[in-house]
Amino acid sequence: MLKDFEIFLKENLPSVESFHPDFNNALGEMLDAGGKRFRPLLLLSVVNSSSPLLVKNAMHIALALEMLHTYSLIHDDLPAMDNAELRRGHPTLHVSYDEVTAILVGDALNTHAFYMIANAPLSDEVKVRLISVLARDGGISGMIIGQAIDCKFEDKKITLDELKFLHVNKTAKLIAASLLMGAIIAGLSREEEKSIYEFGLKLGLLFQVQDDIIDATLTSDEAGKPTGNDGHKNSFVNLLGVEGANKEKSRLLTELEDETKKLDTNLAKTLQKIISDYFKG
Ligand code: IPE
Ligand code: IPE
Ligand code: MG
Ligand code: MG
Ligand code: MG
Repeated sequence: MLKDFEIFLKENLPSVESFHPDFNNALGEMLDAGGKRFRPLLLLSVVNSSSPLLVKNAMHIALALEMLHTYSLIHDDLPAMDNAELRRGHPTLHVSYDEVTAILVGDALNTHAFYMIANAPLSDEVKVRLISVLARDGGISGMIIGQAIDCKFEDKKITLDELKFLHVNKTAKLIAASLLMGAIIAGLSREEEKSIYEFGLKLGLLFQVQDDIIDATLTSDEAGKPTGNDGHKNSFVNLLGVEGANKEKSRLLTELEDETKKLDTNLAKTLQKIISDYFKG
């Protein structure tokens, strides 16, 4: 499925014609540079497990989700935020081009994500719900407030509840939204939507715990981005140590495996496979 997604992505990279010498190249560069494609995979897997015929239509939404996520990475890497020079194994846009270009490509991928959804081959009712979920969890009630707190509280101690709030918003909500958007496309019941979203929040925390472990234990070459950079962050590793973070990872993995039992069997199997591919390698 991810192979089809990559083909779809290459065919639908955003582009704009103008006399700007390099904006159009910069626009698609980070999106095309790869990455784990975790969020599109979650969305497409939910659709595939109950309505495989809708997977093709859902590609538009999976790409929109990846655009919004990629925008968040481009801005996360800016000098004002994490000041990172490498992303997805490539120099970041503010390094290859300049800060203005990186800021504007981020802005463009953010707005273009919603343009993609608005023009996708799905019913208007479904699309309005998708737009609402993505704007909520990728916006001020999710990723944005998480990033704002992450940056504001560098080098400052926060409570355990505050730490949870930070990571749920920064990372977990967009991951939960990926599953929920799949459920909306597939037309699952409101009850199923709710349990899948709850599952996604926990999966998202697991994802950030693993990301923090990556920062502490992998080389920059292995990670495709600078590592050893979270020393001043409220990361799980800084709070719990590498061993503690690994324990938290195992605890979340066990809980998630238990929770898949509450989901439809087809979906449970798919999610178990994703968990094992992404977190047990
Ligand atoms: C990195 O996201 C930022 C976090 C929310 C932890 P990913 O680890 O999904 O980055 P890519 O998409 O694989 O590059
Ligand atoms: C960023 O978290 C999460 C976003 C919402 C972009 P990080 O700052 O930990 O992500 P990496 O480690 O740079 O990928
Ligand atoms: Mg960051
Ligand atoms: Mg970062
Ligand atoms: Mg990180």
